[in-house]
Amino acid sequence: YGAALGEHLTSGVTTFQELLNLAPLIKKADALLKSRSELELEGSGWLLLPHKKDKKINDLAAWLSSMTDVIQIGIGGSALGNMMLHNALLPPYWNEMSPTLPRPRFYMADNVDPQENRAIWDRVDPRHTALIVVSKSGTTAETMANFLFFWEEMKQTVGTEQAARQTIIITDPEKGVLSEFAKERGCAVLPVPPNVGGRYSVLSPVGLLSAAVLGADTDSLLEGARKMADFLADEHDMEGNPAWVFAAISWLHFIRKRNMIVFMPYIDSLSMLSEWFAQLWGESLGKEGKGSTPIKALGTIDQHSQLQLYTEGPDDKLFLLLHVSSLKEDIVIPHAEEKSLASLSYLFGQSMNMLRYSEQLSTASSLVKAGRPVLWLEIPELNAFYLGALIYLLEYATALTGFIMDINPFDQPGVELGKEYTFALMGRSGFEVQAQEVARFSKNLSS
Ligand code: PA5
Repeated sequence: YGAALGEHLTSGVTTFQELLNLAPLIKKADALLKSRSELELEGSGWLLLPHKKDKKINDLAAWLSSMTDVIQIGIGGSALGNMMLHNALLPPYWNEMSPTLPRPRFYMADNVDPQENRAIWDRVDPRHTALIVVSKSGTTAETMANFLFFWEEMKQTVGTEQAARQTIIITDPEKGVLSEFAKERGCAVLPVPPNVGGRYSVLSPVGLLSAAVLGADTDSLLEGARKMADFLADEHDMEGNPAWVFAAISWLHFIRKRNMIVFMPYIDSLSMLSEWFAQLWGESLGKEGKGSTPIKALGTIDQHSQLQLYTEGPDDKLFLLLHVSSLKEDIVIPHAEEKSLASLSYLFGQSMNMLRYSEQLSTASSLVKAGRPVLWLEIPELNAFYLGALIYLLEYATALTGFIMDINPFDQPGVELGKEYTFALMGRSGFEVQAQEVARFSKNLSS
C-alpha cells in the first residue's frame, strides 16, 4: 500500500487527507504489534514491562545506595537507557554533587577505552564500590573485556568473596556466560526478560536498577509508561493517537525520500534522550535497504551548528522538536547598568526559559519557511511520570513504523554480524568462517 502510494507522489508536501488515508495500514500494523505481544513472541516483551517491576530491584537498590560509587558495565541497549534516565531525572553534575548527597556516584563503562576504564577505577574506593554488569546476551566482547578488567581489580583489592558480594549481574536468565558466572560466584542477579531486546529494555531491570539506586522515582516512571500503554491500547482515531500520527508522518516522509529524522529536544537534560532514541530508531528500522537515519541534535546548541544545513541543505529530513512546557528552574536575565550593554536591554528582566522557547519557535519557523516538515512533540513537564510515558510512546511509534515498513523492528542482524567479526578477529573458536570473511573484506584497509 505504502509503495503504491509512493509511486504517485508528485509533491514533497504531505496533506492531512493523506495522513487519514493511512489509517487502514496503521491499524493493521497496530494489530500486528498487539497480537505479537499477546502471543509473547520474540522481541515484544517490552510492551508489558510497565506492568511488572521485579521486586528485587528495590531491595538491591536500597543496598547499593549505601555505596560511594557504582560502576555499570554494559553497552548499547545495556547502557544508553541508564544514561538517558539519569540525565533526565537527576540534577546536572551528579558525580560532583555526590559528597553532599546520600547516594553514590555513577560511572558507565561502555566503550572499550583503557584510559577511561583506568580513570574510573582511580576515582573510586573499591571497598565501597559496586559493579553492575549488564549484558542481555552475556557475550558482547566490549562488555566482557571491561567486566574482566573491573572484576580483576576488585578481586585484587577486596578479595574474591567480597568482590562477588559487590557485583550484580543483569542478564538473560537462560543463556550467556554471565548467568553461569553469577552462579559460580554467588552474585546477585536480575533478569533481562528473554523476549525484550536491548534497545527496548530501559523499563526492565537494565534501566531501573541504576535509576533507583540514584534515587529516581522509578515507580512514577513505570506509572507514566503504563498510562501511555493503556491509552494506546484503547480505540482511537488517527488524530487521537500520537503513536499512529508519529509513525504515519514518518512513513509519509520516508516515501518522499526524507529518510532521516532529526530528533531535537531543547534542554540539556534531554540530550541523552536523543542518543537513546538514535539507537532505538536506527537499529530497529535500518534493514533490508530501508530505514530512516536518526540525527541526534540539541537545541539551542545545534541552531548554531546544524540549522544552516537543515534549512538550506538537501530536503531529506523530517524534524522532531521536543518541547517541555514547564520547567522547574528559571533565571530572570539581569539588568545591567553598563552603557556598553544598553543594546542588550531587550533581554533585561526576561525569563531565560522564554528565550529558549523563542529559540525553539524560531527554529521551527525557519524550517517551515524553508518547506521542511516539523513534528512538534510537547510534554507538560520533565519528571519521571512524563518521561515514562514519552519512552513508551517513542518505543511504540518506532515498532509501528517498522511494521509499516514491513521489516522486523526487534532484531539487529547487522549488529550481530559486527559482534561475530570481532569474535573472529580476536581468535574465538567457532568463528573461523567469519575470520575468513573479515580477512577478505578488510584486506585493503590495514597493514
Ligand atoms: O539493541 C540491541 O540489541 C543491542 O544494541 C544491544 O543492546 C547491544 O549490542 C549490547 O548487547 P548485550 O546487552 O547483549 O551485551
